[in-house]
Amino acid sequence: MENSEDIIVKEKEFLLQTYKRIPIKISYGKGVYLFTEDGKKYLDFFSGLAVNALGYGNEKVTRVIEEQIKKYIHISNYYVNSPQVELAEKLVKYSGLSKVFFTNSGTEATEASLKLVRKYSGPEKKLITFSNAFHGRTYGSLSLGGKEKYKKYFAPLLPNIVQLEFNNVDQLNQNIDSETAAVYLEFIQGEGGVRVASQEFVSKIEFLRKEYGFILVADEVQSGIGRTGKPFAYNHYNINPDLVILAKAIGGGLPLGAMITNQKYSTVFEFGDHGSTFGGNPVACAVGLAVMNEIFEKGLVNQVAKLGHYFLNQLKLIQDEYLDKITDVRGLGFMLGVELNQQYSSIVDEFRKKGILVNCTNENVLRILPPLISTQENIDHFINQFKSILSNTTS
Ligand SMILES: Cc1ncc(COP(=O)(O)O)c(C=O)c1O
Repeated sequence: MENSEDIIVKEKEFLLQTYKRIPIKISYGKGVYLFTEDGKKYLDFFSGLAVNALGYGNEKVTRVIEEQIKKYIHISNYYVNSPQVELAEKLVKYSGLSKVFFTNSGTEATEASLKLVRKYSGPEKKLITFSNAFHGRTYGSLSLGGKEKYKKYFAPLLPNIVQLEFNNVDQLNQNIDSETAAVYLEFIQGEGGVRVASQEFVSKIEFLRKEYGFILVADEVQSGIGRTGKPFAYNHYNINPDLVILAKAIGGGLPLGAMITNQKYSTVFEFGDHGSTFGGNPVACAVGLAVMNEIFEKGLVNQVAKLGHYFLNQLKLIQDEYLDKITDVRGLGFMLGVELNQQYSSIVDEFRKKGILVNCTNENVLRILPPLISTQENIDHFINQFKSILSNTTS
């Protein structure tokens, strides 16, 4: 058996250093907890970056994986596989859209949508995206992104992309016109600092869509599948996007993404226009069915709505107490952000010392993404530890 210390050393030796790893050696997970080799227990309010909606070691997920791998793990998209078809049917039902294309990740779902938009609208029309947006790391999705630090070494990127300020209604009016092919929107920005699109902003996009007929693409990679207390974040607004892109939670930890189209755009792609060897893997789709069953059909999404509300209120109470340290608290359901005064960005380490895993995004936003199975007791524990950290931090 390898000395676990070697793994950390070997990781540096053998892997490209693209990830700044947190120096804990995880042994296994159970429910909302991760356990390390040296016996430490962590409450995981990061959920594998919004992937592990059902936590760790969910028995139904394990069972469907076992059942499916006994039948087949892969058969290629030259053949129909039933978990894929059944999952597509469920996604259509809950999204209110029409047809699904499966991928392996969020960035691939974005790429699929870009190709669809370009095929439908032609090469010249502009794509609208927003400041701080994040749609993935491959060339097309990177081109849509709103963070310069991710793009700066990788020019030339895709042309005809116009970046507007998120939640700025005037800029929508000034820039969206008959030459607009699509608007890409995260209704709640994740990487961008857990920013919620204002109702006014979304209403203006909808108004302009009626006028100019562009394609509205909802990026639900992080916010979809119940995370915000509704099936999709756009359900908080009175709007139906034309395309929805998904990944993360839908695969229950296996690589799976999807692009869902409404009826109008469901025939844009024809045979051979797009494809993927692994996209819609049968095991991942079988897990996807179990995930949707638990979240949508067993009421988990309603629990997230209720507890998310409670959690947000508790965080607001903390903010009232520490106005010098917390500048904003925001989010929906179990996608919550606490904007901190810059100097407290080491707070992630403070949480870890207290046995809680959480993330910091956009420099100073504590991003809280609990598994959807988290209880009020888990939330109270988090809140108490947060108070303790703040009370020990001098300003
Ligand atoms: C909103 C959003 N879109 C797209 C992506 C890219 O997904 P993936 O990392 O699966 O390629 C992410 C990943 O964090 C995301 O949060």
